[in-house]
Amino acid sequence: MKVLIYSAKDFEIPYLEEANKNKHKLTFIKAPLSSQTAMKAIGYDAISIFSADDACANTVEKLKDFGVKYITLRSAGYDNVNLRAASKFDIKVANVPAYSPYAIAEHAVALLLALNRKLITSHRRVRHYNFDLNNLIGFDLNGKTVGIIGTGKIGEVMTKIMHGFGCRLLGYDIEENDALKSQFHIEYTSLETLCKNADVISLHLPLNAETHKLINEKLIDKMKDGVILINTARGAVIDTEAVIAGLKSEKIGALGIDVYDNEKAIFFEDHSQAVPSDNNLMLLNTIPNVLITGHHAFLTDEALTNIADTTIYNLDCYTSRKKTENELTGFD
Ligand code: NAI
Repeated sequence: MKVLIYSAKDFEIPYLEEANKNKHKLTFIKAPLSSQTAMKAIGYDAISIFSADDACANTVEKLKDFGVKYITLRSAGYDNVNLRAASKFDIKVANVPAYSPYAIAEHAVALLLALNRKLITSHRRVRHYNFDLNNLIGFDLNGKTVGIIGTGKIGEVMTKIMHGFGCRLLGYDIEENDALKSQFHIEYTSLETLCKNADVISLHLPLNAETHKLINEKLIDKMKDGVILINTARGAVIDTEAVIAGLKSEKIGALGIDVYDNEKAIFFEDHSQAVPSDNNLMLLNTIPNVLITGHHAFLTDEALTNIADTTIYNLDCYTSRKKTENELTGFD
């Protein structure tokens, strides 16, 4: 099958080629999918996209006109694909639902530890041969309350890790995980109760109509003073303006983000020679108790291997007319 791989990054191409073993004819392009670049898919049966690609209804309709029958995402999140449009135009869509929840949860913990123990400031000082300890005080995680919002695959790993640190765990999810309750003593609460009581809040929800700007001004007001907020889910799960206000008022003690609501236009590319275009991101970048990574929580060898293997598996299943457990079409 002829497959066009949009948003191909140099680091992932060897993984995809290795997994493919020359079965499918893969063409890699750096351009992301958008309504302007959809025409690049003319002559391809399938495309593969990543989280910054835009498969809105208009783009999906164009893909159908250009003969594309299958979209396989190299990501778990699929908020960037209009599944209803894909179903309407008979384009099947599949994702990689669980390539490594460990990669993401461990990255969330890395952000948390780096912020709490002021590792970036300390590193910068030591680089300048400055061994001053002022303003480097953190707190023991042991005995603190961690609120985990979304206790699916990634939230589950996060729960286990934070249990290992000796934390009290509060959870919020539309579906409770009984094993987490019995083995790791997580207590499910309302979102408000979690926010009122947690010293650290970590987000592990998909972005959808219910979770869009879930962390808003009202909820931030209820949080403990000095709370550490970690977001490795999707940028738009938090209201960025409200979080900036929370940082300014010191309600939020520190913010660690791997995702950003306007990341599509910015992340995954080198803009170091350009004038920064996004005021909120520029401001966040200047606040010392904010740590930003550019959507690389998934970037482990294991995760990239699993993403590549599952992407090729999805393509294999499509060519052999086998329905995969990774198919998303039909849901919205
Ligand atoms: P999952 O589907 O296993 O877990 C999501 C959990 O959220 C489920 O337990 C579900 O019941 C819960 N949930 C959904 N809607 C909810 C709502 N309205 N209120 C409360 N709970 C709700 O997904 P997984 O694998 O844990 O991933 C979570 C998210 O993390 C993904 O959707 C994706 O956006 C993000 N992600 C980020 C990555 C990164 O590199 N930064 C990489 C992979 C995923």
